[in-house]
Amino acid sequence: MKTQLLIPAAGMGTRLGAGGPKALVDLAGRPMLVRTLEQLAPLGLTAQAVILAPAGHVADFEAVLASHFAADAPTVIEGGAERQESVARGLDRLDPDTDIVAIHDAARPFVHPDTVQAAIDAAARYGAATVAIPSADTILVADPEDFLIETPDRSRLWACQTPQVFQVAVLREAHAQARESGYLGTDDATLACRTGHRVKLVPGTALNFKITTPADLALACCVVEKGLASCA
Ligand code: C5P
Repeated sequence: MKTQLLIPAAGMGTRLGAGGPKALVDLAGRPMLVRTLEQLAPLGLTAQAVILAPAGHVADFEAVLASHFAADAPTVIEGGAERQESVARGLDRLDPDTDIVAIHDAARPFVHPDTVQAAIDAAARYGAATVAIPSADTILVADPEDFLIETPDRSRLWACQTPQVFQVAVLREAHAQARESGYLGTDDATLACRTGHRVKLVPGTALNFKITTPADLALACCVVEKGLASCA
């Protein structure tokens, strides 16, 4: 089955205080997006990948990727104002004969290729899969004034990660239905679930964390400098 990678990288890193596209922020000597793609390189999907860049930054992304990947540089297109819109645009740019799409955030540079492969296998079998980790923390639900109202049973709570992998037809249906109903989510597996599709949870690892804050970036630099990325 033909698989393509779709990398949402159109975030501007407001919470990181980056002052520019988060995916191009330096992570121990290389742009974050380059590290993410290098981590995924064993899958052999880089050249056909579709990268979503912030509006006005497509050329910057193309220049960075050309200098690191030469002939294997992926395609860069303009993302949307929300992550969901960025993914929808990427979905429109997949090759017509692609069966499986693996969506992986540029902001998670330490995913293990074996984890991605496990999610691809699960999506081929079940239609949709997402990487996630069982919650180690007790999760609290608060009211709008930050008072505790509910503590869900931790044994059934998972923290969502990426990749999220889909048979292309499943993801197209999920996005079409979200658009029609005006639903805006923060991930794609939820859209597929809302459409009635089963989504298999595939265990990830703690090192597949998302770089959001300056503390996350500092931690990510330590991971690279201590050579821990391959342990992800
Ligand atoms: O906003 P958050 O940090 O959760 O973003 C997760 C991923 O989605 C990041 O890789 C970010 O670049 C991407 N994103 C996007 N388009 C947006 C917002 C975020 O591709 N409009």
